[in-house]
Amino acid sequence: MHYLITGASGFVGGNLARTLAARGHTVTALVRRSSNRAELDKIPGLRFAVGDLVTGDGLDEAVKGVECVQHLAGVVKARAAEDYYRANAEGTRLLCHALARLERPPRLVYCSSLSAAGPAAIDRPRREEEPPAPISTYGKSKLGGEIAVRQYADRVPSVIVRPPIVYGPGDSINLPPLLAMGRLGVFLKAGLGPKQYSFIHVDDLCEALVAASTRGKTISQDDPTQGIYFVADPHAYSWEEFCDALSHALNGRRARVFPLPEAVGYAVGLGSELAGRFTKQVPLLSRDKAREMRQPAWTCSPARAKEEIDFSAARDLREGLRHTLEWYRQEGLL
Ligand SMILES: NC(=O)c1ccc[n+]([C@@H]2O[C@H](COP(=O)([O-])OP(=O)(O)OC[C@H]3O[C@@H](n4cnc5c(N)ncnc54)[C@H](OP(=O)(O)O)[C@@H]3O)[C@@H](O)[C@H]2O)c1
Repeated sequence: MHYLITGASGFVGGNLARTLAARGHTVTALVRRSSNRAELDKIPGLRFAVGDLVTGDGLDEAVKGVECVQHLAGVVKARAAEDYYRANAEGTRLLCHALARLERPPRLVYCSSLSAAGPAAIDRPRREEEPPAPISTYGKSKLGGEIAVRQYADRVPSVIVRPPIVYGPGDSINLPPLLAMGRLGVFLKAGLGPKQYSFIHVDDLCEALVAASTRGKTISQDDPTQGIYFVADPHAYSWEEFCDALSHALNGRRARVFPLPEAVGYAVGLGSELAGRFTKQVPLLSRDKAREMRQPAWTCSPARAKEEIDFSAARDLREGLRHTLEWYRQEGLL
């Protein structure tokens, strides 16, 4: 099979490119001129197409002759709302447009996010049948990408995969900021009430994306929820369980968790945003992120993925974190 992977220079895309190339598939990586190709250059036989989702440059050329597009490119951290929408919503629309112009458009797998669906309630993980209700700018822009995919679904056979928090080798966003707390075995918690989260290890996400490309039902105009899959480790982890798993993997100790009122997260988010304006850096925390952190649960049920595409996560959080930290150690990042 000939795959085109957008976002191949990123965390998930790089892992997927390695997985598919190792299985003997032909893989073309869509990269920008500015993308760092150092890791991709190590993958034997990998082809490159240069393109940009924001301008649309190079997309018509990139999609020619491919049999499946794994669309992972996206903006996960930005200073301005327009940056999210331009890449995640409008960029996805431009990609779909390029695909729709082909005589026989290939299958498209769009890597969306649990953020596009919105938060859940404690012990009530989100399911695909529920109408999406994103609360962050990032989530709204990813839902914008889903809407674009749906608009072209009569021409481009498409499947939407919605992962929750992804971790694993190569993650430079989710886990690294927590390692300092992890080393001390002391964690802060946003809010005084219970919190639950779903996770997926990047290797499992890659398997889910492959399963979606081969076995997923495609989006249909008749049924608004068909062709969408939440993929996750099925256990909903409390924040305390997550901290314990990380603390154990780092230093074999139990975690001590100190809850802080939600308002503190908001104040830190505002402060980080203001500081970011001076340093011109994307802040680690923002008011948008604080809004996400205020929610009781970011959990989803992978039941449909199990039933329809035969996907089950192979790694639970403890095993997955041990594996991930081994990689951080090998790379000298701990
Ligand atoms: N990581 C998570 O926890 C998580 C959770 C749920 C869903 N997702 C989704 O999974 C996908 C991959 O996430 P990730 O964590 O791998 O992100 P990442 O490491 O930040 O990678 C993003 C990728 O998108 C590319 N990209 C950004 N703007 C582009 C543009 N205008 N044109 C072409 N390529 C562009 C980047 O290219 P450059 O290298 O040139 O910047 C990079 O390869 C995203 O769609 C994200 O929304 C991620």
